[in-house]
Amino acid sequence: MLPMKATVERLPGLDEQFIKPLPEMEPGQFEQWAALLKQRTGMRLPDNRMSFLVTNLGMRMRELGIADFQTYYDYVTSGREGMVEWGHLVHHLTVHETRFLRHESVLALIIQHCLPADSADCPTEPLSIDVWSVGCSTGEEPYSVAMAIDDRMRQLDAPYFLGMMASDISRAALATGRMGSYSHQKVREIEPRWLRNYFTETDTGRFQVSEELRKRICFNHLNILQVDDAPIGKMNIILCLNLLIYFDREQRIQIANTLADHLLPDGMLILGVGELLNWKHPHMKRFPYANTLAFQHQ
Ligand SMILES: C[S@@+](CC[C@H](N)C(=O)[O-])C[C@H]1O[C@@H](n2cnc3c(N)ncnc32)[C@H](O)[C@@H]1O
Repeated sequence: MLPMKATVERLPGLDEQFIKPLPEMEPGQFEQWAALLKQRTGMRLPDNRMSFLVTNLGMRMRELGIADFQTYYDYVTSGREGMVEWGHLVHHLTVHETRFLRHESVLALIIQHCLPADSADCPTEPLSIDVWSVGCSTGEEPYSVAMAIDDRMRQLDAPYFLGMMASDISRAALATGRMGSYSHQKVREIEPRWLRNYFTETDTGRFQVSEELRKRICFNHLNILQVDDAPIGKMNIILCLNLLIYFDREQRIQIANTLADHLLPDGMLILGVGELLNWKHPHMKRFPYANTLAFQHQ
């Protein structure tokens, strides 16, 4: 059993641990780690990503006080503790880059084509809108979509229910999203009116997403390759942005097919531009809209 809290327990040796360079990674070890990553997350790690792997494994190994890649590999791949450790490591090995309003054309598409066009178009009963943000990272994407939808529905003065599922493989990223507390730097792109409506500035200068918005979003741990086992209902809108790029074509198709199966009739699947070329699905039709890659369920 390895000392999980070694850095805390061995504080006197901490500096030494940080200064000590990690050993070189052998090509065979790189292949071993790349295969593990592919098997467990589906992500492929090209050969030129060795330095990415070394840096990110190294960060975690230093936290644990482990000095060589093989010992860490054996630890991660054995027993229940290994599974727990994998949960931490996967956060270091996945890319979480995201930001509020990152995909403005996607928000415009949702407002113009997934919501009522005007008040006369609104049903008398509250409209139910179910959205799934796949690979939601730290929450900026689902919150952006929720703000855009809420803002539009308020303009239309139309009652509605928004149920949003936001899923990711990284529990650490999900915890940040669930908390909904962001730095000033993170919210700088958000227009003042939205900041006022959907955030509260805290004493510490952070911006807290309103309770009203947070309670509409359910953050769930989910590996997109294991969706079949998850009890997920049908959605009006599914976003899968900046995620498929990490998978090979066969897996991209498999993921898109699975997501298509989770759409309601007329539902919209929105992928990252260029992330899936020449995809054909019997129930999905390309929905042309500038700077987006969207498909509508027929
Ligand atoms: C680059 S971020 C994209 C965030 C957001 N969709 C956006 O476009 O701003 C990719 C996210 O996908 C998640 N991810 C990677 N592999 C995954 C998998 N197999 N299942 C679910 N999420 C995964 C990562 O943890 C990361 O948070």
